[in-house]
Amino acid sequence: MEPRTAFQSKTVMTDLVLPSETNPLNNLFGGELLARMDRAASIAARRHSRRIVVTAAVNHVAFNRSIPLGSVVTIEAKVSRSFSSSMEVYLDVWIEDRESGECIKANEAIYTFVAVDETGRPVKVPELVAETSLEIERFDAALRRKQLSLVLAGKMKAIDATELKALFL
Ligand SMILES: CC(C)(COP(=O)(O)OP(=O)(O)OC[C@H]1O[C@@H](n2cnc3c(N)ncnc32)[C@H](O)[C@@H]1OP(=O)(O)O)[C@@H](O)C(=O)NCCC(=O)NCCS
Repeated sequence: MEPRTAFQSKTVMTDLVLPSETNPLNNLFGGELLARMDRAASIAARRHSRRIVVTAAVNHVAFNRSIPLGSVVTIEAKVSRSFSSSMEVYLDVWIEDRESGECIKANEAIYTFVAVDETGRPVKVPELVAETSLEIERFDAALRRKQLSLVLAGKMKAIDATELKALFL
């Protein structure tokens, strides 16, 4: 399988915030943003693997900044590392200032997708080649995040999480 770059999976989705998608403070409802990010991330994972992909975990979400009604929201998703069948997808969320057109970072998130066959069984995916310094930084930390996610999900013993142990010992 030919390795693929992070850029080859890059997925950009831009959309408005409409009244039915807001909370009582007239800001984007968190669940709506999670769904939009899930869609963008699944397209990025599919572009990387060229397979059916399913969401295995939402590893991290930071709702740092509220997103007001009427905002133009851009979500950029890229695979940050692939393993055997799983892929970490990193998402950056931007809002665009109406007058200046300047984009401000609002949120970020990290999802894990797994490539599966038609029966839902995990299948191998291509290696990910990180090129830019940010891509390399995200690639390098992804194994640690995978181990943390597996420990929290009860799928890995903490004692086996070598990357986590290296942080503390
Ligand atoms: C995701 C899924 C395919 C994993 O299947 P599984 O039988 O647990 O398979 P495995 O244990 O071999 O795991 C497959 C890969 O997923 C990774 N994985 C599984 N759970 C994970 C988690 N919580 N966090 C990070 N990675 C996870 C494993 O580490 C493995 O990665 P690797 O092959 O790259 O090393 C299966 O749990 C599933 O179909 N879940 C439902 C998915 C879904 O419907 N999503 C939408 C929710 S509505």
